[in-house]
Amino acid sequence: MDRIFSGVQPTGNLHIGNYLGAIQNFVKIQKRENISKAYYCVVDLHAITVWQNPLQLKKETLETAASFIAAGIDPKKSIIFNQSRVSSHAELAWILNCVCRIGWLNRMTQFKEKAGKNKEKASVGLYAYPVLMASDILSYKSNLVPVGDDQKQHLELARDIANKFNHDYEVNFFPEIEPLIFGSATRVMSLRNGKNKMSKSDESEFSRINLLDDKDTIKNKIKKAKTDSETIMGLEAIDSSGEFNSNISIQRPEAVNLLNIFCGVENLSKKEAVKTFSGKNFSDLKDALTDSLISKITPIGMEIKKMISDKKYLESILLEGAEIAEEDSKKNLLEIKNIIGFN
Ligand code: TRP
Repeated sequence: MDRIFSGVQPTGNLHIGNYLGAIQNFVKIQKRENISKAYYCVVDLHAITVWQNPLQLKKETLETAASFIAAGIDPKKSIIFNQSRVSSHAELAWILNCVCRIGWLNRMTQFKEKAGKNKEKASVGLYAYPVLMASDILSYKSNLVPVGDDQKQHLELARDIANKFNHDYEVNFFPEIEPLIFGSATRVMSLRNGKNKMSKSDESEFSRINLLDDKDTIKNKIKKAKTDSETIMGLEAIDSSGEFNSNISIQRPEAVNLLNIFCGVENLSKKEAVKTFSGKNFSDLKDALTDSLISKITPIGMEIKKMISDKKYLESILLEGAEIAEEDSKKNLLEIKNIIGFN
């Protein structure tokens, strides 16, 4: 039986990159058989690796939980909670800090990107961030982790940490961690520059479509999205694995991105999308994309807004989720402590 774990940071407006790359997949996984438990965590401990305004953090935590539910995660089937309420995450993270090697963390590209030039001033938490991620997953002995493409390296590290623990203590306690990266839009790029990831920290609001954007905003942002001067490419742009080939991705990143997003929202293969738009102008693709985003994304946004106005309901979901998560992770932590020679 599979155990699922994934996390999303409560650090501001969720956008279609978060939705298409991760949250939409959480919803799809619900339909799979063979799942014993699925945990979806609002990772507030990860959020404070860079400073967060306390009131804002509270608000975003509820909003992220609301986004999970609005997108279709059923709180009766999955466990929705926020990380700081369950003490095992931080406790196991310390143990895993003693398993993980400094050299492994030094290779993490996301730390280098986030810390930028001023590495000396980054928090220790930002550096150890991937160890806490490993702890999240392993607290529940989860084996399947649905994430966006950008988290692949962190999951390889989590896997190495789990294997080293098993090896060092001569046990077979932690399972092999497997990333689940699927769907047509695992990497959604900025609407202003197809070479950069869509990001909540991009200065330009026009670079991303937020889940809370209304119809007119979506329409406007897609209208202004960067394109190039050619018509939409043909099937020669698709390689044998059904993806856009690397040449076209380098030469026409904006066209590829808009098509990818369309495929993600409409659940289409790249081939199907290219067949539909080949030789047409960007305006045709943009019209279709606007319609499909409006019909898929705005209902989620409206549901999120409705839920945020009922904080009591959201609070109760998070509390109930945390109770179950606490109980499940405590059991594992006790066994881990025995293995190590504590107690
Ligand atoms: N680091 C992930 C992100 O930024 C969020 C995350 C935290 C996570 N803990 C996790 C994802 C555990 C998967 C599993 O997207």
